[in-house]
Amino acid sequence: AHRGGGALAPENTLGAIRLGASMGFKGVEFDVMLAGDGTPVLMHDETLERTTNGRGPVAETPYPVLAQLDAGKGEPVPSFEQAGLLCRELGLWANVEIKPAKGHERATGEAVARMAQDLWRGADLAPVLSSFSIETLIAARDAAAELPRGCLVEKIPADWDGRLRELGCIALHCNHKHLDETMTAQIRSAGYSVLVYTVNEPADARRLLAWGADCLVTDALDQVGPEFG
Ligand code: G3P
Ligand code: MG
Repeated sequence: AHRGGGALAPENTLGAIRLGASMGFKGVEFDVMLAGDGTPVLMHDETLERTTNGRGPVAETPYPVLAQLDAGKGEPVPSFEQAGLLCRELGLWANVEIKPAKGHERATGEAVARMAQDLWRGADLAPVLSSFSIETLIAARDAAAELPRGCLVEKIPADWDGRLRELGCIALHCNHKHLDETMTAQIRSAGYSVLVYTVNEPADARRLLAWGADCLVTDALDQVGPEFG
């Protein structure tokens, strides 16, 4: 379930994660950024305006201030710690998308990986740490090498194989619009999992699964439901 509850709940909130779980989803994707005081929080954009009633850059707003904001339907902005604990309580797999604000790539990768290490210590099911930022993935690898990582891209780069190897990733996460059957097979036969976002049409979901995609991320929780996986 993309951003916790897809299109059916305020994105990146605890309520969204609960909704995803209540609809039978096995896993949730959410975005994590550092607040002004260095606390990892669930947030997609670098600024607060689109998803909250606050204003200004997330990276300049301390967590105690963020925690007072409304992220939709009265839901607060959760800390990554709260979200991780909730996933563990609900038995949900987490795709932790590390979303650094510009200039905070390394610090964000490091802080989120360290916290994930603490949150999932001793757990049966490890989360996957993913990011569009190579610098962030390197920092996450350096901080918590044992946690699985996914290399997140829009389009698959020509050097995908070398990139996944260098970053020590277990999976390629890409926009399903840029994937085809041959590429899916190539990536999987190289030993990597394939995660596709954001798959909102049942026909696309069926085709991607038939190609061998391992994980679908969706906003359409009521249409591309757990029965597809
Ligand atoms: O992690 C997959 C997907 O969430 C990437 O795009 O912009 O929704 O974070 P975005
Ligand atoms: Mg995301």
